[in-house]
Amino acid sequence: MLTSGPVAVLFLLLFTAGAATADSYDDLEEENTPELDYKNPNWCRSPSLTNGEVTCQSPRGRAYRGTLGTRCQMTCDRGYRLLGRKSIQCLSNRRWSGTAYCRKVRCHVLPLIPHGRYTCTQGFVVDSRCDFTCIPGYRIEGEHSRTCQPRGLWSGVQPECSDTDPPKIKCPPSRLRFAEPGKLTATVIWDHPKATDTADKHLNVILEGQEPGTEFKEGVNIIRYKVYDQARNRASCKFIVRVEVRRCTEIPPPLHGYLSCSSDGNNYGATCEYHCDGGYERRGTSSRVCQSNLSWSEGAAECVPMEVKFDVKTTSAFLDQFYEKRRLLILSAPNVSDSDYQLQNVMIQKSDCGIDLRHVTVIELLGSPPCETGRIKENLLQSEVIEGLRQIFRISRSYFSMLLLDERGMDRERFIVPVSTEELFSYIDSFLLDEDERERLELNRDFCD
Ligand SMILES: *[C@@H]1O[C@H](CO)[C@@H](O)[C@H](O)[C@H]1NC(C)=O
Ligand SMILES: *[C@@H]1O[C@H](CO)[C@@H](O)[C@H](O)[C@H]1NC(C)=O
Repeated sequence: MLTSGPVAVLFLLLFTAGAATADSYDDLEEENTPELDYKNPNWCRSPSLTNGEVTCQSPRGRAYRGTLGTRCQMTCDRGYRLLGRKSIQCLSNRRWSGTAYCRKVRCHVLPLIPHGRYTCTQGFVVDSRCDFTCIPGYRIEGEHSRTCQPRGLWSGVQPECSDTDPPKIKCPPSRLRFAEPGKLTATVIWDHPKATDTADKHLNVILEGQEPGTEFKEGVNIIRYKVYDQARNRASCKFIVRVEVRRCTEIPPPLHGYLSCSSDGNNYGATCEYHCDGGYERRGTSSRVCQSNLSWSEGAAECVPMEVKFDVKTTSAFLDQFYEKRRLLILSAPNVSDSDYQLQNVMIQKSDCGIDLRHVTVIELLGSPPCETGRIKENLLQSEVIEGLRQIFRISRSYFSMLLLDERGMDRERFIVPVSTEELFSYIDSFLLDEDERERLELNRDFCD
């Protein structure tokens, strides 16, 4: 290569002028070189090429790079591109036939990739390698690197960063809950699980199943959570909420009676009430509760035939025996031959079963003192009791009347002419029976036919 020195400026001028072509060779030779010296090693300025190489062929040998007629080939170093003439010749006018220089080859600036970045070994020049990486949560798809090739083009194509990592979600542990007392369900609470994802901050968590804080029914309840990230990668988890209903062993209904139980009959917290059929009364507890240790409170009750004491001396003692157990139908007439009484009496006797089914006891008050009688079927009442009943309920001896008392002994309806038992029953069924009794009556209606 040419050593630089005071002639550098001249060299540049020569190069600039070197646009002259081989066509003008002869003219130049004629004008400027009256005396050609083929031996002068410095006829032309020794050629040089920054970032390149000059290979010359001279008639006098390789070393004579400046002799007239020398031809030189210009080549650039790797990463440089030759601009100008590939080949130049030392002309008779002491100039080279052309000029060339080497320009650094650059690839275009690589665009950025979404969710990723790249770093290059030497920027965008030849042989620089740019390595792509993705931000956490994303993975490279395609080539991981591109290299700037000698012709100024990048190898390969741009890779992409794609979110292939599914999100993560962890469900709470499965759980067993016992139904609450008196219920067949349990309220179960938990916190919705949080989902995480390497790429996305905001994730849509979807619950499939019942919301926490609601009542879960007996058995296995599956709760599933699903989550999707922006790239639709999916994750899910599930857990089980099992609800168990704790139960006491079932208690049998009493003979001549029945049970009415709350809730499911024998689950923890359920209450069973004893009821006795008409003509029977309960002996023992009125109700039992299924306790937390799954045993029933109290002992079993029974239904025993109702016993009325007829030797009681006061009306209140007499009435107390029926309190909350039986309804009373008091039939009063001046005497046995009273036609209203006889008509009513026949109807009542025919409907004995229906009357009993409605828990009604019939009391007859007949005649006047000293021949006054009071009776329940064939059992006679004390005269004090008869007198008391007449006074409390204002029952006249002088005409037929019939009085209906409810289970609490309240005067509910009075009839002064005979009524059919249908009419009587319809009144009792509509106004005196409670819900349970009505149901029970429906069940047993056939019993009287
Ligand atoms: C169940 O608990 C009650 C009181 O809560 C207790 O009186 C009864 O003895 C217990 N029964 C059993 C079988 O443990
Ligand atoms: C029964 O009472 C009626 C009045 O209601 C009377 O006319 C009749 O004579 C009485 N009969 C007897 C047998 O006492």
